[in-house]
Amino acid sequence: MDYSKLKVPNHVAIIVDGNGRWATEKGKSRSEGHKQGFLNLKKLTAYIFSKNIKYISVYLFSTENFKRSKGEVSFIMSLLTDQLNEILNFCHEEKIKAVFSGRKEHLAKKVLEAMQKIEEETKNYDDKIFNICFNYGGHAEIIDATKKIVEDVQNGKLNIDTLDEQTYNKYLYQNLPPVDLMIRTSGEQRLSNFMLWQNSYAEFYFPKTYFPDFDEQQFDKAIIEYTKRDRRFGGIDYENQNN
Ligand code: IPE
Ligand code: IPE
Ligand code: MG
Repeated sequence: MDYSKLKVPNHVAIIVDGNGRWATEKGKSRSEGHKQGFLNLKKLTAYIFSKNIKYISVYLFSTENFKRSKGEVSFIMSLLTDQLNEILNFCHEEKIKAVFSGRKEHLAKKVLEAMQKIEEETKNYDDKIFNICFNYGGHAEIIDATKKIVEDVQNGKLNIDTLDEQTYNKYLYQNLPPVDLMIRTSGEQRLSNFMLWQNSYAEFYFPKTYFPDFDEQQFDKAIIEYTKRDRRFGGIDYENQNN
């Protein structure tokens, strides 16, 4: 689809959901669903960035996902580990800056080192920003930011009276602009602890499609829907009111 005349969102966030159901309904293992999810993510991300959308955040593993079986968690961990090199190559090819959001605890040293390498090697690209949320929780992010703020107040680096939304944003895992369009695939209509601060004025879109099948045409539909939304941010468009 041609996006050139559309007002596209600056920041798109995606909750990658439905990998397990996609697989189960096809008689495949949940692991196969996660594999297909990763494959689709690469294609979809390249497509979205090609449409002049600058920021993409994706939710791949939550702080709560550790509640799943050991087998499933370790499969997702090894899938990510295997994919990190691919992610690095992809970011170089497409000139994407990749950043990771989430807690470091419970992640293997090998994974953390690979994440750091990707961030370091791609840090100078600034047209496309890919925020990968892994071992991420919205509550955890707010708590972690608050701890850093208290620390800086205690050591005199921050004057509490100057703390406002903009300053708070800088203490989050990444200093990103607000999310404009938040998509959750699979039909579930909830945030599941995803980017609570950044989604405050996002437009939500909940397609029924499972993530491995959420393709370019499906994304186009999300954008068409987004362009129809009336974003008021608490204000009123008096020119289009009758009284
Ligand atoms: C999303 O797919 C990926 C993760 C949360 C890790 P799910 O694994 O949640 O798939 P469903 O929701 O069980 O179908
Ligand atoms: C949210 O999906 C987390 C990610 C997509 C990474 P879940 O499948 O874990 O969420 P719930 O359990 O349905 O709320
Ligand atoms: Mg799910």
